[in-house]
Amino acid sequence: MVRDEAGLVAGLTALDEVETRTADIGVHIDVGGFSDLAHAYDLRSAVLAARATLRCAGERLGPRGCHHRSGRPGVAPALTDAMVWSATNGVRRTPLWPAPTGITEPWRDASDDAGPAVRGLIDSGAKSLCAALSQIPGPTGQEGTSHRGRCPGRGLRRPTGHRARSVKGKSMKVVVIGGTGLIGSKVVSKLNEHGHEAVPASPNTGVNTVTGEGLADVLKDASVVVDVSNSPSFEDDAVMEFFRASTTNLLAAEAAAGVTHHVALSVVGTDRLQQAGYFQAKQVQEDMIRDSGVPFSIVHATQFFEFAKTLADSATTGDTVSVAPIKIQPIFSGDVAAAVGRTAVGTPVNGIVEVAGPDTFTLEDFIRQGLAAHNDPRTVVTDPKGLYWGAALKESDLLPGPDAQLGETHFADWSSKQ
Ligand SMILES: NC(=O)c1ccc[n+]([C@@H]2O[C@H](COP(=O)([O-])OP(=O)(O)OC[C@H]3O[C@@H](n4cnc5c(N)ncnc54)[C@H](OP(=O)(O)O)[C@@H]3O)[C@@H](O)[C@H]2O)c1
Repeated sequence: MVRDEAGLVAGLTALDEVETRTADIGVHIDVGGFSDLAHAYDLRSAVLAARATLRCAGERLGPRGCHHRSGRPGVAPALTDAMVWSATNGVRRTPLWPAPTGITEPWRDASDDAGPAVRGLIDSGAKSLCAALSQIPGPTGQEGTSHRGRCPGRGLRRPTGHRARSVKGKSMKVVVIGGTGLIGSKVVSKLNEHGHEAVPASPNTGVNTVTGEGLADVLKDASVVVDVSNSPSFEDDAVMEFFRASTTNLLAAEAAAGVTHHVALSVVGTDRLQQAGYFQAKQVQEDMIRDSGVPFSIVHATQFFEFAKTLADSATTGDTVSVAPIKIQPIFSGDVAAAVGRTAVGTPVNGIVEVAGPDTFTLEDFIRQGLAAHNDPRTVVTDPKGLYWGAALKESDLLPGPDAQLGETHFADWSSKQ
């Protein structure tokens, strides 16, 4: 626990010295043998853990050091997320699962002067919290989390079904632009199932973000706007015009209505796909959101399972589908919608959250399996010079980073039910 600024500064200074010394540690595996090698790695890990703790404490800048307070109802939202530190990216905030009532109820009842009986309840709640924390996106490589040391012996695993905590802990009005589409209709259902007031907004419900029709009315009293709309035309100029006009109108209307969180769905690797007009338009959409001043979260999803046929159609000549030599980690639309919903009711990350499916395929295998599920007889081949929507890609350009939240649904299980 770092209790004050002087302690933090002293810790960082001491750590600098230790880190300088660890740079001089040499390990000769032939001479040192296993146990000395392990000790050297232990020392390095300890230094990284200390650095993570101190950096997170500095980020939190509160009397409670780097600890979050997710189990305590009513605390400031800034104290209810987890922090992840890496040597390369610094401190990043990630949302937590909602704390179980077994934890929140004792906290609600207890004060700091609580008697032993209440303390016992809190202790047992804390054990459940540790179990809950073990579900949170874990460190990779040289990352450490601020809560690691609180749950000894519990490894953090890759996230599946990871849940963000509702910012206000109560029902919110969430306007879902594109709420009648593939993802949008599922986001609306999921939010309503969780007790929020989700309002679908699209031309079919009298709201047009390109013309501005119906926007001001639908945004009245909204806390959050989720934008999962898509352009009716994928022609380069049309899609650019759609996202530019729609995002301009939407962000202006949100600012006027006092919306406190803008969530948009975009595509993993958008910045790597800039040879293609569609992704240039998505990049413009993302840049406008970043520059708007409205707190935001951009969810980057990989390709939806349902997208296999569209991809195949775009690459078909005669009876042959000819695809680029790249990998893909597709995701079920329902898992995307769940991630978008969790993000919408969580704290704005003012950055990107990546979501992807649990399995990686070659593009050829993904499309072949997708077509087979629909008894589509087309042949699928890999063309070493093949393009993806007109863009020449590296093999891993469509894949997410190591911190991506992973959907639970496997493509084979989903395909077998189509
Ligand atoms: N396909 C993928 O694999 C993939 C991967 C990652 C991210 N994404 C992103 O996911 C998002 C949603 O995709 P989707 O497949 O769910 O889309 P979709 O099913 O085609 O739905 C598009 C939605 O946008 C609405 N819309 C169209 N024009 C509008 C306007 N002028 N004003 C307001 N709403 C309008 C439509 O409303 P109506 O029903 O009234 O026409 C519909 O609700 C897209 O932004 C896309 O970039 C897609």
